[in-house]
Amino acid sequence: MKFSSITSLLTLAASVAAVPQKRCAAGNSTLPYTNIAGIDVVDTPLVRKARELMEANFEPFLIRHVYRTWLFGAATIANNATLAAKIDIEAHAVACLLHDLGWDTRDNSPFTSNDKRFEVDAAIYTANFIRENGVKGEWSAHRIQNVWNGISLHGTTSIGLYNEEINVAFIVESINMDFPGPHPKFPVDDYNNIIAKYPMDGLGEGTNKAFTHIATYKPAVTYDTFLEPWGVAFVPGYNPVGHRLFDRGNPNVTSPPPKRSFHSLQ
Ligand SMILES: *[C@@H]1O[C@H](CO)[C@@H](O)[C@H](O)[C@H]1NC(C)=O
Ligand SMILES: *[C@@H]1O[C@H](CO)[C@@H](O)[C@H](O)[C@H]1NC(C)=O
Ligand SMILES: *[C@@H]1O[C@H](CO)[C@@H](O)[C@H](O)[C@H]1NC(C)=O
Repeated sequence: MKFSSITSLLTLAASVAAVPQKRCAAGNSTLPYTNIAGIDVVDTPLVRKARELMEANFEPFLIRHVYRTWLFGAATIANNATLAAKIDIEAHAVACLLHDLGWDTRDNSPFTSNDKRFEVDAAIYTANFIRENGVKGEWSAHRIQNVWNGISLHGTTSIGLYNEEINVAFIVESINMDFPGPHPKFPVDDYNNIIAKYPMDGLGEGTNKAFTHIATYKPAVTYDTFLEPWGVAFVPGYNPVGHRLFDRGNPNVTSPPPKRSFHSLQ
């Protein structure tokens, strides 16, 4: 599902070139910033490259989703002194922008593997992307590790939200802020401005397509994970029974029985 729109690239190039300012962005930071949908956000060359990578390779619904997660997070930081003092906003930006690289459904995608969960694919690619494109000397192993951990844990909130490193927990939290309705952690006007610029259209359908694709082409990494129901519902022949941890101790129990009905997607 390659999306490669010259128009959107030109629009992005124009928008990122327009505001070369330096001032305190959200939080205690002297990094360059820009303003998107009313929210001050960090604007380093690395963040621009991350934006360009998304814009050049993914469908609009997913580009809008990753921008929302970044902006919801930035709006939250701007309204919380603890976060403003502690969050590495450049690492947060890159992690939010690139967290779904593993959703690429193209053959021979540069972002995905045949044998790893989509979150791990995105974490590995993003860590290498930072090592290659970040300013040398600025990216300690710890900063990169925070990005890797935040991205790889973003689908497992029952663990990720409780990470002792606030930079990891807050990447997970930001990515999971993308559900409809204003968020208590930042003003409703911010929410409305972000949604007006990056509407949620297509997210449900796009999620179904991406997860069904993954359950079709690498089912082994979806058994016993939150992707399993997409395989059960939408992939002919997909059967997690025998592949779950549960099955090791309960070899004769197939309940609940696997559903094999296939409902084609729009
Ligand atoms: C920014 O952080 C530094 C070091 O943590 C601190 O000394 C300084 O007072 C902070 N500045 C603001 C404006 O909060
Ligand atoms: C600010 O963020 C921290 C870390 O997520 C959280 O523990 C705290 O409750 C927040 N403070 C307010 C006033 O929301
Ligand atoms: C599972 O079923 C087989 C065949 O009926 C039986 O031999 C085996 O003991 C059962 N295993 C368990 C753990 O119940």
